[in-house]
Amino acid sequence: MGYLSARKKMEIELQNEDVENDQLLRAHSHAWNQTYSFIKSMSLECAIQLGIPDTIHKHGQSMKLCKLIAELPIHPTKSHGIHRLMSILTLSGFFTVQEASEEDDDLEEAYMLTNAWKLLVKDNPYGMAPYLLTSLDPVKMKAWHHLSAWFRNDLSTPFETAHGIPIWEYAHHEPNDNQVFNNATKSDSRLISRAVTTECKGAFEGLRSVVDVGGGTGTLAKAIADSFQHLDCTVLDPPHVGTNNLKFVAGDMFEAIPPADGIILKSVLHDWGNEECVKILKNCREAISGDGRRDNKAIAIDMVKMENPKEEEDESLGTQLCFNMLMMLLSNGKERTEKEWAKLFLGAGFKDYKINPVVGLRSLIEVCP
Ligand SMILES: C[S@@+](CC[C@H](N)C(=O)[O-])C[C@H]1O[C@@H](n2cnc3c(N)ncnc32)[C@H](O)[C@@H]1O
Repeated sequence: MGYLSARKKMEIELQNEDVENDQLLRAHSHAWNQTYSFIKSMSLECAIQLGIPDTIHKHGQSMKLCKLIAELPIHPTKSHGIHRLMSILTLSGFFTVQEASEEDDDLEEAYMLTNAWKLLVKDNPYGMAPYLLTSLDPVKMKAWHHLSAWFRNDLSTPFETAHGIPIWEYAHHEPNDNQVFNNATKSDSRLISRAVTTECKGAFEGLRSVVDVGGGTGTLAKAIADSFQHLDCTVLDPPHVGTNNLKFVAGDMFEAIPPADGIILKSVLHDWGNEECVKILKNCREAISGDGRRDNKAIAIDMVKMENPKEEEDESLGTQLCFNMLMMLLSNGKERTEKEWAKLFLGAGFKDYKINPVVGLRSLIEVCP
C-alpha cells in the first residue's frame, strides 16, 4: 500500500473497528458539548453584568419573561435574546421555570431563583458575583489561551506566558485589577469566615494571638477578631490601616512571619509549589515556636483533593480538578491530597496534623509543631 493520508487511515481504522453509527454520533455530540461548555460560563457572566439575578430577586416572586425584559437595561431590538439566555441558565441550574397556568392570558413561563442563583445577587453578603467576574475577566482568560504555549516554554506559568510577568507582580503593577481581585476574595472570605467562626471554634481555643499570612484585606482576620475578642490578630500582606484588635503588617512570608500562637493560611499554600510551601511552613513553625506553648499551631484552609471519589462526589471532584488546573495556570500552585499535605507538613518539621472537612469543598487543617 502506498502513502495514505492520516484522514484515510482514520477512516479505515473506524471501519475496521466496526464503530456503530450511533456511537460515532454520540461521540460527536459529546465533543460539541465539551467544546461549547464555555458558553455556560459566558452566559452567566452576561446575566450578572445585566443584573438579571438582582432584578428577579428584587421582584420577590417568580418573574414573567416580558416583565424581566422590560426591567433590564437592554436595547429593545435585543429582547429576543433573553429567552435563549434564560434557557441555558435554567439548564445550568440557576433558575427553575414555572409553566404558565391555563388562566394566564399570555401563557408565558416565569422564572424563579434557585439557591445557586441567590449567590449571584449583589446584596448577598456571601455573594459570588465579584469572584465569578474576575475569574472570567480577559486578563485571566488570556492565560488560558497560552496554556499549550506554556507547556512548550520554560516560563513558570501560563499567566506569565500571556502577560510577561508573574501574577503577584502583575497585581503590584495594576492596582485597579488588584482591587477587583481583592473584592473577589473578600466575598469568598466572608463565606469561609462564617463557617470558621461557627463550626471551628475549637481550633482557636488556647491561642492568644494569630497572624493571618497572605490575609489580603483582612476579611477573615476581622471576623476572627470580632468572634474571639481575646485574640490579638495581625494580617501579613501589603500595608493597610488597622482597627481594634486587628493590625496590618507589611511583609514577605518567605522572609519572616511575626511571632504568634497561631498562624492562619487561607487559600495561600495552594498558590505555591512544594518547595515554596515548605519554606512558608518552616517560617510558620519558627513564628509559633517562640514560647513552646502546647496549643500553638498553624491553621491552613484549603482543599484536600479526593483520592478515590465516590460516584455522588463527582461534581466536587470536577471542581477540585478545575481548581488544580487554575492554580497551575495562575501561580504554579496546586490542590493537594492528604498524602501530599502530610509530606509538606512533615517536610517543614511539623509533627502532626488534623483535617476538619467542615468548610464546604475546603478543609480547616490544624498543623501542630
Ligand atoms: C489567593 S490570595 C488569598 C487572600 C486571603 N487569604 C483570602 O483567602 O481571601 C493570596 C494572598 O497572598 C498574598 N501574598 C502573595 N505573596 C506574598 C508574600 N510573599 N508574603 C505575604 N503575602 C503574600 C497576596 O497579596 C494575597 O493577598
